[in-house]
Amino acid sequence: MNILASLQTNKMIPEKYKQMSREELEARVIEVKNKLGSRLFIPGHHYQKDEVVQFADATGDSLKLAQLSAENTEAEFIVFCGVHFMAETADILTTENQTVFLPDMRAGCSMADMADLGQTERAWEKLQAIYGDTILPLTYVNSTAAIKSFVGSNGGATVTSSNAETMVKWAFEQKERILFLPDQHLGRNTAADLGIPLDEMAIWNPINDTLEFDGDVSQVKVILWKGHCSVHENFTVQNVIDTRYKYPDMKIIVHPECRREVVELSDMAGSTSYIINAIEKAESGSAWAIGTEMNLVNRLIQNHPDKHIISLNPHMCPCLTMNRIDLPHLVWSLDTLEDENNQNIIKVDAKIAGNAKLALERMLKNS
Ligand code: 13P
Ligand code: SF4
Repeated sequence: MNILASLQTNKMIPEKYKQMSREELEARVIEVKNKLGSRLFIPGHHYQKDEVVQFADATGDSLKLAQLSAENTEAEFIVFCGVHFMAETADILTTENQTVFLPDMRAGCSMADMADLGQTERAWEKLQAIYGDTILPLTYVNSTAAIKSFVGSNGGATVTSSNAETMVKWAFEQKERILFLPDQHLGRNTAADLGIPLDEMAIWNPINDTLEFDGDVSQVKVILWKGHCSVHENFTVQNVIDTRYKYPDMKIIVHPECRREVVELSDMAGSTSYIINAIEKAESGSAWAIGTEMNLVNRLIQNHPDKHIISLNPHMCPCLTMNRIDLPHLVWSLDTLEDENNQNIIKVDAKIAGNAKLALERMLKNS
């Protein structure tokens, strides 16, 4: 969803929630959870604040949260602590009797906003003119429901950072080349790790509708949409050099939304769950620099006092939109679950949802 549009339509949180003490807010969450029991489900992404995560019924990376949404047919109210595209995915994968709420409608994702349907349709038309029916579209789940729907209706699938390799392999079993939306870095990192040379990857520029590639276009195997995550782009080669210099024994682990150069220079790269597992399994006394969102890095620092953990970027990198979901917004959304005219409901248009579900189900089947 376009963040500006959501700002215009968003009903703001009443002042009283901002005046409540932390204790009052926490007591209210516990009260509502006890009252509603299994009628309420609160999923939380790993990047959410601790004040929110403490009340999540389940935490996970994007894949796990999508799987949980598909499995949970019981909860009437799903209060999604994450960003807009994740709540849309939950709505698409749940039943008609379940309602998904996003505690703050301004919790969008700048990467998802980098590909809109008009741009994608124009790109597709031009790419079909060059390559004919040889391309399969894949979209990172960090995209709008409309993009997922486009991809689903053209035979493609969604991917997450934890199954991107599997899904890219799957795509190449269907067609000769792929269009990967909207994160060029995840697309490039995944394809390169599968052995596809960088000089067989082109970039689609959605601002001026052009294919950026020097050479013979028939050699292109992967077309990367020119989008990125503004949080993970803050981890730089200089950060890696500085860390190696200051802490020669430290291992560097990053999310694949980081640029290729950063991933190549790191020791390990993977989804948020992969990073958490690696730190959990690491020996006591080991040292780690992590290149991902700061709420997760801070939580890992707190949970592993026996390990030396720092952020790869010493200035830390918060995801401002993830951070919009805080305790006051969680309480406000719990208090208003049954309000008529509730403006925090995420409901994807049925036609869009149908094709988007095809793309999501192709992924879930292969994960
Ligand atoms: P994962 O949890 O799938 O690694 O996703 C990271 C992310 O950027 C979510 O917005
Ligand atoms: Fe979007 Fe990046 Fe924030 Fe994830 S971390 S929600 S990709 S802006």
